[in-house]
Amino acid sequence: MTPMPRAGVITLDGPAGSGKSTTAREVARRLGFRHLDSGALYRGMAYALLSSRGAESWETLTEEDLRALPLRLQPMEGGFEIHLAGRPLRGELRTQDVTSHASRLARLRPVRASLLELQRSAGARGGLVADGRDMGTVVFPDADVKVFLVAELEERARRRFLERTGMEPDPDEVRGEADAIAERDRQDSERVHAPLRKPEGALELDTTRLSFAEQVEAVVDLARRTLVGKNPHR
Ligand code: CDP
Repeated sequence: MTPMPRAGVITLDGPAGSGKSTTAREVARRLGFRHLDSGALYRGMAYALLSSRGAESWETLTEEDLRALPLRLQPMEGGFEIHLAGRPLRGELRTQDVTSHASRLARLRPVRASLLELQRSAGARGGLVADGRDMGTVVFPDADVKVFLVAELEERARRRFLERTGMEPDPDEVRGEADAIAERDRQDSERVHAPLRKPEGALELDTTRLSFAEQVEAVVDLARRTLVGKNPHR
């Protein structure tokens, strides 16, 4: 019988379209952990601001202004939903408008500071698989298992297009999607606060030629080996 892993914290970071969220969700399900999609919080905040005050002058917002937004993480089966004023946000978070504004918003220090506590509270009791850009570097620096997921740009573009439209892209469509992804990666890697980078001690997993099942298995396997070997009373 496989021993049950201790309820630790597992982080998955990486560039856009590397498969973090889908992998994290399935890894969490396999381990009986909860999944936190931190990108959905940045998207949720972008959506909240776009609908309440438009796209202007976000640079002047203070941490206090942002904490006052009625944005919550609502625990649910397997993870969390993002609620705005008590209403769940779902499809609204995945529009291209929200996607591009989320990266712009994520550069701002008050934004990151206002979301830090919310993210940490999700991991307070362990049993969490968190995915994003700074999970292993800033939010959960003491995580038990850290993974950095990468994949070639064209493959990430292909997957994103397929996910968004349900169709295989032609070469022009791959190029268009790749340009948008590369621009977002550039913004996320070059920003001053919590830039996208591989956390120290993280396992780098290139998923370009892995199937979804293989990449999930690789993370579950690493988590099982690491968490079972650790002292649960640490
Ligand atoms: O799914 P995808 O990787 O395309 O994006 P996401 O994880 O939903 O994140 C949307 C945006 O939020 C990213 O482009 C980042 O700018 C920002 N983000 C961040 O700064 N830090 C995180 N931990 C997660 C997301």
